[in-house]
Amino acid sequence: MPNHSIKVTGLQKSYKDHQVLKGVDFEVEKGSIFALLGSNGAGKTTVVRILSTLLQPDNGTATVNGFDVVSKPDHVRQAISLTGQFAAVDEILTGRENLIMIAKLRYLKNPHQVADDLLKRFGLTDAATRRVSTYSGGMRRRLDIALSIVGKPQIIFLDEPTTGLDPEARIEVWKIVKELAEGGTTVLLTTQYLEEAEQLADRIAILHEGKIIASGTLSDLKKLFPSAKVEYIEKQPTLEEVFLAIVGKKEAK
Ligand SMILES: Nc1ncnc2c1ncn2[C@@H]1O[C@H](COP(=O)(O)OP(=O)(O)OP(=O)(O)O)[C@@H](O)[C@H]1O
Ligand SMILES: [Mg+2]
Repeated sequence: MPNHSIKVTGLQKSYKDHQVLKGVDFEVEKGSIFALLGSNGAGKTTVVRILSTLLQPDNGTATVNGFDVVSKPDHVRQAISLTGQFAAVDEILTGRENLIMIAKLRYLKNPHQVADDLLKRFGLTDAATRRVSTYSGGMRRRLDIALSIVGKPQIIFLDEPTTGLDPEARIEVWKIVKELAEGGTTVLLTTQYLEEAEQLADRIAILHEGKIIASGTLSDLKKLFPSAKVEYIEKQPTLEEVFLAIVGKKEAK
């Protein structure tokens, strides 16, 4: 078996006469976290939809877990799960019911046990029996990711997993993603946040105007810039650091 979970070569996709992907190439190693970085409209969701067999490319090839997404979509689907850009949880059901439903759909033996374990792992035990319509954005996102790992898929796609979350919820999601990768899952995530890619990803690729314009580890990417100049400046905390310090203090009381 090859050591990569995902291999994309010369991928092209147009919507009518608007060419969004103009020849995208990248590989993702097994058990690693890969971040696809790009601004609004860069084509990140388009790549994810092609890799998860929801959309066909016009040109080029993509293999996921060794299977071609166009000729072997069923094999690809067996290996993956997708958490879309917008939460796909059922509002009327409770968190627990959502998880049980998916566990049953995946023919797991102990759907109730699976649901309870995931609720615990994602800090949702207290909210387990509440309807999802009463959940906060962060809780929905956590439930969404929990749903996507029911049945332990080998590869998971997370399309902007932390957009719209507050800094604390974001850090929680980061922790979950890191744990998934440590457990051997391959993670491909898209993000607009440079810091997210910096914190999480083993490798980063920047999608811009239809192509990957830079890719590599964080230190590879840093080398693309002129070497650092030593400057003496007063270090100001970022707003995020201030926020976390204040909120953290309140909770510690
Ligand atoms: N079904 C569609 N029909 C026509 N155009 C589309 C369709 N889906 C996406 N596009 C266009 O393709 C381009 C890329 O969209 P895509 O959703 O892949 O970008 P993205 O990088 O995920 O952006 P965002 O960060 O806003 O989620 C955009 O210009 C978008 O308007
Ligand atoms: Mg998108």
